Amino acid sequence: MNNFTFQNPTKLIFGKGQLEALKTEIPQYGKRVLVVYGGGSIKKNGIYDNVMNILNELGAEVSELSGVEPNPRLTTVHKGVEICKNEGIDFILAVGGGSVIDCTKAIAAGAKYDGDVWDFVTKKAAPEAALPFGTVLTLAATGSEMNPGSVITNWETNEKYGWGHPLVHPQFSILDPEHTYSVPTDQTVYGMVDMMSHVLEQYLHSETDTELQENMQFSVLNTIKDAAPKLLEDPKNYDLRATIMLSGTVALNQSLQMGVRGDWAAHNIEHAVSAVYDIPHAGGLAILFPNLMKHDLEVNVGKFKRLAVNVLNVSEEGKTDRDIALEGIDKLSEFWTSLGAPNRLADYDIDDSKLDLIADRAMANGAFGNFKSLERDDVMAILKASL
Ligand code: NZQ
Ligand code: ZN
Repeated sequence: MNNFTFQNPTKLIFGKGQLEALKTEIPQYGKRVLVVYGGGSIKKNGIYDNVMNILNELGAEVSELSGVEPNPRLTTVHKGVEICKNEGIDFILAVGGGSVIDCTKAIAAGAKYDGDVWDFVTKKAAPEAALPFGTVLTLAATGSEMNPGSVITNWETNEKYGWGHPLVHPQFSILDPEHTYSVPTDQTVYGMVDMMSHVLEQYLHSETDTELQENMQFSVLNTIKDAAPKLLEDPKNYDLRATIMLSGTVALNQSLQMGVRGDWAAHNIEHAVSAVYDIPHAGGLAILFPNLMKHDLEVNVGKFKRLAVNVLNVSEEGKTDRDIALEGIDKLSEFWTSLGAPNRLADYDIDDSKLDLIADRAMANGAFGNFKSLERDDVMAILKASL
C-alpha cells in the first residue's frame, strides 16, 4: 500500500427534504449567488422553483447561467466566468448532474484568474484561488459532488480533458434521492455504469496488501449490481434511489483510492471518444471498458479472476484462472447490456473513420494508464475491438 493523505472537505448533506439546508449554508458565503443549471430538467421537476424560493427568502441577489450541456463546453464556462467577474458573485450554486457541477468548478476557478480557464484544463497553470460553491445534485453518476475533479470539452478543437484541484472541492453538496426520481431510464443506467466504472478504475492498480480497499470496492460494486435492476423496475423507490445516490458519491470521493493509484485508462479513451463524437460518457465506458480489460488481462489474471468470482458470480469449477477472468469480463458487459447500456461503438453510429483522431486525442499527454501503460497501438486495438 502506498503512503497517502486523505482529506475531503465537502460537507455531505443527504436525505429527504435536505434542500432546506440551503437556508443555513448559503448565508455563510455572501449575498450574490450565481445559480448554474442545465437544459431545463430542474424547471420541469420543480427543483428550480424550490431553490429559487429559498434564495428569495434569504434575500439573495441571484444571477443565473442556464444551458450547461451534457459534456460541458468551454464556451459555457467562459459565460459563467464573465458573469462572476462582472457581477461580483460571492458564491455559486450548481443544481444538476456532473456536467453542471464540473462546469461550475471551472467557473469557480476561472473567476479568480486573469488568463483563460482552459489553462487549468490543459494543466498549463494551476488555480491559486477559487470562488466557493455548493451543489444540489440531481443525477447519481459522477461523484463530482464530493471530489475536486472536472471534465471540460473544447468542442471547437475536439478536446475533452479532466482536470482537478483541491480548491474546487464543493463546500457542501445536498443529495436528496427524491431529486433523482425524474431522471430518465437511459441516464439512470448511464449513471450506474459510470459509478461502477469508477470503482473498477480504482480496482485496477498494481499495489499489494490492499485487502481492505479491495473488499470496499467489491462491496460498492455488489451493492450497485444488486440495486440496479430493481431500481429500473421501480424508479420512484426512495430506498433504491438513496442506495444508488450514495454509491455514486462513495465510488469517487477518494475513499476507495486510499493507498492505491487507479488505472483511469478507460476514462481517458472514453473522453477522447466523446470529444470527437458527443456521446454520453458512460455509454462510451460500457463499450470500451470490457475491451480494455481483455486487452490488459495478462497484466494480472488473478485480479480479473477475483473480480469475476467476487462480483460477477463466476463459478471456478473445472476452469483455468484465465477462463474465469474472461468469463467475468463478459458477464460484466452482459450485465451492463441487460440494463440497457450499449456494447458497440456502432450503437452510436461510430465507425472506423475517425479512430486516428480519437487515438490522437487519447495520446495528447503521451502514454497513459497506471495498471498497464497504453501506447497508441494499444488504444487503436481497444477501439477496433469496440467497433
Ligand atoms: O441538462 P438538464 O436538462 O438538467 O438534463 C440533464 C442531462 O440532459 C439530465 N438530468 C440531470 N438530472 C436530471 C435530469 N433529467 C431529469 N431529471 C433529473 N433529476 O441528465 C442529462 C445528463 O446530465 P449530465 O450532468 O451530463 O450527466 P452526468 O452526471 O453523467 O455527467 C456527465 C459528465 O461528467 C463527466 C463526464 O465526462 C461528463 O462530461 N465526468 C465527471 C467526473 C468528475 N467530475 O469526477 C468523473 C466522471 O468520470 C465523468 O468523466
Ligand atoms: Zn466516469
